[in-house]
Amino acid sequence: MNEREEEIVICRCEEVTLGEIREWIDRGYQTFDELKRVLRVGMGPCQGRGCREMILRELSLKTGKPVSEIHPGTFRPPSKPVKLSLLAAGGDT
Ligand code: FES
Repeated sequence: MNEREEEIVICRCEEVTLGEIREWIDRGYQTFDELKRVLRVGMGPCQGRGCREMILRELSLKTGKPVSEIHPGTFRPPSKPVKLSLLAAGGDT
């Protein structure tokens, strides 16, 4: 494994590197939700939009399962703040 590759930050919100993800997969954590519990990946402000696909791909490479067979985990849709003045005016954005 390339040492520099291991330092690539996969989850920018929680600052989790590829090396950390690989380490926990090697320890037996083989679903997105398991990695989420130990590393907090997918729990940042983007709710996994920035890292979910890359982590699922890494799980696929490490486990030999196609991405389509790996559960993407549970997640909430990202929320955006809405100005109260827009709500008061009856705006829809
Ligand atoms: S990049 Fe992983 S939660 Fe945002």
